[in-house]
Amino acid sequence: MNDNKIILTGIKPTGRPHIGNYLGAIEPALRRSLNNPNSFFFIPDYHALNNGLPADEIKKLTHVIAATWIASGLNSTKQHLYKQSDIPEIFELETILNATVPKGWMNKSHAYKAAMDQNIEAKRDVDYDVNMGLYTYPILMASDILIFNADQVPVGKDQIQHVEIARDIAGRFNSKYGNHILTLPEHLVEKTVFEVPGVDGRKMSKSYNNFIPLFASEEEWNNAVKKIVTDSNQEHTHESFKETTFYKIFSAIANENDTNKISQQIVDKSIGWKEAKDEMLSQLVSRFKEKSDIYFDLLNDTNKIDEILKSGAELIRPIASKTLKQVKMTIGVL
Ligand code: ADP
Ligand code: TRP
Repeated sequence: MNDNKIILTGIKPTGRPHIGNYLGAIEPALRRSLNNPNSFFFIPDYHALNNGLPADEIKKLTHVIAATWIASGLNSTKQHLYKQSDIPEIFELETILNATVPKGWMNKSHAYKAAMDQNIEAKRDVDYDVNMGLYTYPILMASDILIFNADQVPVGKDQIQHVEIARDIAGRFNSKYGNHILTLPEHLVEKTVFEVPGVDGRKMSKSYNNFIPLFASEEEWNNAVKKIVTDSNQEHTHESFKETTFYKIFSAIANENDTNKISQQIVDKSIGWKEAKDEMLSQLVSRFKEKSDIYFDLLNDTNKIDEILKSGAELIRPIASKTLKQVKMTIGVL
């Protein structure tokens, strides 16, 4: 369907991937790129610097994200897998784009606004602990996307605004220079998943520590599932069950049949939360156990991961150079 569209997406190396990342971003991106040689999957490691992670963590988490992509089904001989820092053209493009992006656009960006809101709530200076990397985050993200002329960017709901800013940045650059050299990207959001809640009912996120890890041992999955908040309402209707955090997570993992079955069992009280949670654990095992084994095997061979990332970047750098060259000619420096 999207065979000739260029698909691109990235996952930051800032923590261990969870099922929200997989269902909202990784799986839809891989599904859409099946048999599409124009697919770019990358690890935005310079974005992760903004979080202040120590060097050894960045290195470790870069391997974790690469192994996650591969264990999830990415075929590095057919699709492009690389890390951002291996494509320096991205950063040169960012410098060029900086000159056309209005500062006001950055004031409105979610990542910066969230940091400001937290500071206001804590009665601190609004810019406390905000670095320039966080502030200009959407411009670097736009460069990630525009350097490879991506048409479609599969992301979760929280990233829609960033992709829209990338689109606006491309549009502004094109109209300023009267030239359509930058492709306007569009976001692709998985409608059926949208946003998976965490075990506490808020959005599942690495930063809230409320997640179910994607690749894990059965024991780790079980510990996470046990923490899912449940109510003491013994009289669920199909409608009220649909509102529970349990249902929202379960229905994101399981197929429709299994979801309908468990709804019926809860409504007719043939099972309680304990059995429902055991069933969720079985769903996690059947969906992710095999992939987990591949993931843990890969993490035991980080040299292999480094090789894959290096050759991934080498293969596509000429595409980035070509875009950069066109941009440089357009602005008058070449
Ligand atoms: P986190 O919030 O855990 O730090 P990231 O910001 O690294 O996650 O997100 C990586 C990708 O996964 C993004 O495309 C994001 O939209 C998607 N994503 C993150 N959390 C969820 C969720 N709970 N449900 C669906 N998609 C998600
Ligand atoms: N901002 C994305 C996130 O936090 C990660 C990211 C960086 C990205 N550059 C990108 C996603 C380009 C898609 C395309 O999840």
